[in-house]
Amino acid sequence: MGNGIAQVFATNDFKVILCDISAAALEKALQVIAGSLDRLIKKGSLQEDDKTRILSNIATHTDLSKAVALADLIVEAATENLEIKLSLFKTIDQYAPKEAILATNTSSISITRIAGVTSRPDKVIGMHFMNPVPVMALIEVIRGYNTSDGVCQAIMELSKTIGKIPLEVNDYPGFVANRILMPMINEAIHTLHEGVAGVEEIDGIMKLGMAHPMGPLALADFIGLDVCLSILRVLHDGFGQPKYAPSPLLVNMVTAGKLGRKSGEGFYVYALDSKELVVSPTFR
Ligand code: CAA
Repeated sequence: MGNGIAQVFATNDFKVILCDISAAALEKALQVIAGSLDRLIKKGSLQEDDKTRILSNIATHTDLSKAVALADLIVEAATENLEIKLSLFKTIDQYAPKEAILATNTSSISITRIAGVTSRPDKVIGMHFMNPVPVMALIEVIRGYNTSDGVCQAIMELSKTIGKIPLEVNDYPGFVANRILMPMINEAIHTLHEGVAGVEEIDGIMKLGMAHPMGPLALADFIGLDVCLSILRVLHDGFGQPKYAPSPLLVNMVTAGKLGRKSGEGFYVYALDSKELVVSPTFR
């Protein structure tokens, strides 16, 4: 997600510092961004010198305290782990300019909770981008309990400046996007687990019948089954309702390391450089 967010800001001529603890991850990030820009050049929607310009807007850093020192906005897109995010926000709050806005791309962790470890809860906000970031129009803008009107308005405006459509929501478990999306994905997994239909039938029905660009099982693989599980757990804990309990099949798959695209197998198997969806042997 971080790559995509950096690409979108850099495309709109913001100076971006992409920060990660791993230099190798930063190198890979730049390659992914270059690949995404090449795709747009091939399509004719970008010129070769746009690519040079966009890439020249992106610098990299492995030291968070230095990376944020002059920033106006920090968009955190680390892994979905509460402890990691709280620790990052403590550091960012310590080293970022006092007026800087601190945004998180979390898909489900409470903005209010994250804001609570900073000295500026009025300047902490959710900017939830959708994957693939360069393609998807939406930014779900999440107001924490203490986010100020001015900060919210600034982020709504900024989101439009980078070509996205922001929609404002309040800070409750799963916000809006995942509160609605994850129960659908979970239900698709229950439907598979109960033997009501196979992977291709479930996905085919939702694609052909509801005009979804991807079926829910392919989408779960795309998002990452571990991410889906952790969001469902946030919904289940947050609302205390059994309807959000994750499917035992999803739990088993994550335990077995079948995480979807990123691990090479989920409901489908993924061969390098192939766009074709092949159902995993487990579900054939
Ligand atoms: N960079 C730039 N452009 C890209 C791209 C990238 N990384 N990935 C895809 N594209 C562009 C392609 O160039 C193509 O553009 P045109 O239509 O203008 O030619 C377009 O996107 C479609 O790409 P493809 O033809 O390669 O593939 P596709 O038609 O199968 O679409 C998809 C791929 C865009 C991913 C589509 O299947 C889709 O919209 N899927 C649903 C995605 C979705 O639901 N995302 C939200 C997930 S939830 C989330 O992110 C939040 C969370 O908290 C879990």
